[in-house]
This record gives sequence, C-alpha cells and structure tokens, in this order.
Amino acid sequence: MTSLLISESQPWKTLYLIWFFATLILVKLPAWFIWYLVPSHRPRRSWTIKRALIVRTIRELWTLEVDIDDEKRDPSEEVPDSELTDAKFVWVDGIPDKLFRGEVHRIADITNVHPTRIAGYWLFQKNYDWIGLRAKLGEKTILHLHGGAFYVGTANPSDTTANFTRGLLEHMHTIQRTFAVDYRLTASAPKPPANPFPAALLDALAGYRYLVHDAGFAPENIIVAGDSAGGNLALALVRHLIENPTPSLPPPGRILTASAWLDLSSSRRGPGSSAVLNAPSDIFDERPGELFAKYAVVSLLGPMGFEVAQTHRYLSPVSLACKPETGLFAGFPETYVVAGGAERLLDDSTALVERMRADGVIVIQDIPPDAVHDFLVFTWHDSERTEVLKRLSRWVDMM
Ligand SMILES: *[C@@H]1O[C@H](CO)[C@@H](O)[C@H](O)[C@H]1NC(C)=O
Repeated sequence: MTSLLISESQPWKTLYLIWFFATLILVKLPAWFIWYLVPSHRPRRSWTIKRALIVRTIRELWTLEVDIDDEKRDPSEEVPDSELTDAKFVWVDGIPDKLFRGEVHRIADITNVHPTRIAGYWLFQKNYDWIGLRAKLGEKTILHLHGGAFYVGTANPSDTTANFTRGLLEHMHTIQRTFAVDYRLTASAPKPPANPFPAALLDALAGYRYLVHDAGFAPENIIVAGDSAGGNLALALVRHLIENPTPSLPPPGRILTASAWLDLSSSRRGPGSSAVLNAPSDIFDERPGELFAKYAVVSLLGPMGFEVAQTHRYLSPVSLACKPETGLFAGFPETYVVAGGAERLLDDSTALVERMRADGVIVIQDIPPDAVHDFLVFTWHDSERTEVLKRLSRWVDMM
C-alpha cells in the first residue's frame, strides 16, 4: 500500500514483516491497551478502548516500509457473477467524445487522456431479483465513486469502500441496487506514470451516461455519491454536467459526499486547521497522510504544474486559491455532506458546505464530532456509522 519500498531480497522482507508484527502484537498493542485504560489518554474521550486500539493499529500499518502488492485485476478481464455476492459485473462504454467538453476536454488534450471501456458493478439488496438492466418506472439509484486517493481501491464489492453502499442498502427502503464505477487509477514514479486527470472523471461520466442511457434511469432519480477521493470525483462529475449542458445528459437529482478530499493543495493546513488538530485522532497521521496526498497529486497532474492543484475548480473546488467571486457551486443539486469531526480532511467538508450555501445550494451537513476519515466504510465505527446511514437512508427514501 505505501509507496516506500524496501528493495531488499525476499528473506529480509520476510524477517522485517515478522519483526514488525511481532512487536506490534507482543509489545505495542499491550502497551497501548494499558495506556488507553484511562479515557483521557484516548484521542477522543468518547472512544472505547477497542476503537482507540483499532485506529492506533491502522496508523501503525501505514508505517510499514514495504510495498504490499495489492493484487490488481487485469482491467480487460471480466469478473464472473459466481465470484460475487449480491452483485453483478458489467462493462461500461467509454464516454463518447462529444459528451465531455469545455475545460475537461481541453485538459484531456494536454494530459493525453482518452475515454475507454471500464468495468462497473451493481450492488444489490439481499435477495434482489435481477430482472434486467432497465430501470423500473421511477426507480432511484446511487452512483458510487470509491475512495483511495485516486490511486488505490476498486469498485469491486470486495473492496472496503463497498461497505459504504452496502451499509446504505441495508437501511434504504426505496433503492434496491446501487452502481459503482471502476474508474482508472492514477500512478507515477517509481511506477510508470498512468491516468492523470481527467481519466477518472471521464470514467465517472461514462458510468453516469450508462445509468441514464443504457439503464434508463431518470437523472433526477440518480444520486451521485463518493467517499474521500470519490467525493472529489462526484463534484467534478456534476460540475461538468452543469457547465456543459447536454439535453441528453442532465445533472443528477442529488449529491452525497463522505469525507471528501476537496483541496489537493491542502491550502488550509496550518495551526488551527483540521489537518493539524485532528492528526492525533485520524486513521492517518500527518506524515503518511501528506505522502499519500503528494503521490496522488503528482500522479494526477501528470505534465501539469502544481498551481493547477491549487487553483483548479475541478481538482480543488474548496481551496483558498480557488475562489471565483461567486457562483462556484451555482446550480448544484441538493447535497448531503458527511464528514468525521476527528478527521484531518474535516475542513474540506466544512468549506464545501459554506461555499455551496453561499451559492444557494440546499446542503445537509452531518458531522459526528468523534468520527474518523471515511467512517462509513468501517463497520467497527458504531454507533456513528449506523446513525448516519439511517439518516442518509431517510433522506434518500424521502427523495
Ligand atoms: C466491511 O463489511 C464487512 C461485512 O459487514 C465486514 O466484515 C468488514 O470488516 C468491513 N470492513 C471494514 C474495514 O470495516
């Protein structure tokens, strides 16, 4: 997962891993346990010992100095339904050239990005009967764009981020299936550079086009949703639809973001910011957090300069350097903004709420004070996870 690499031979790597996990289990965990017996020693007083230990362990895992090769699916291969539970694999055609325009097309020409066929996954409520792709009259659905800093993760239901939509499917009464797009992931040195901006956005658009044109969902019945980097993509997708009106592809009915990453330049970082204040209580400490962010941004920018990440409304719509006088979010649909009050990216969500409201967008803000980054995907993060999922489901059901 981490990009730091021990390029030693296999035996050294094995020894290192044994040492790492032995000290973690035999020394560190018992010591943390004793320390956390006192509630005021926990990053948040309200946390249980169990949660404090899980978060502490996740933070420790980021310090692993090996490249764990997450097995990557060959993107040209189909996933048989027999390998999936309550889910279905489909192909999604690349977005036709005439459907991505303006600013996004201009950048795609600079970064040499083209549409391509991608995978998508339907996720079903338990016991759902697949009677075909086409939407029933008035059927609603959610288009989910997964998190992973634009360079890890997948829409495959085995990915942790699918716990977001699975959790919603457990509580919603009016949506039986959600759809996730396996958008292209970005990369850069030491790996071969791949898929800079707007590759993932083109794929997100392709997924939206698939829902409207191939599956026949009415745009107003679609909620575009994303967690972490996926929240960034969700807003970029809707922005493209609003800025380039296309009669055959109107914007969606609603937006849902969870722990969205919306300022790739971390322009608010500094004393008093959530990036600093919440560093002790989030699943990322500052150093790994900044390393992941840097790798993601360098990969996404490709041949473009860093000022693009500071100023561009498609990449960093809440950054301090991206503040056109008014109207940045004019015309956006009703949006539900979820974030954790204990996460480093909290400021991104609160800035989003502020900017959207200033532009007249209806925004619901749901920020449990002691929750970590992307807590909706962590089943151990109750009661907050279930409470927010229930509120979200009511919001969806009343649509
Ligand atoms: C995701 O959900 C599954 C099924 O409920 C659970 O077993 C798994 O632990 C969850 N993953 C995380 C990281 O919480």
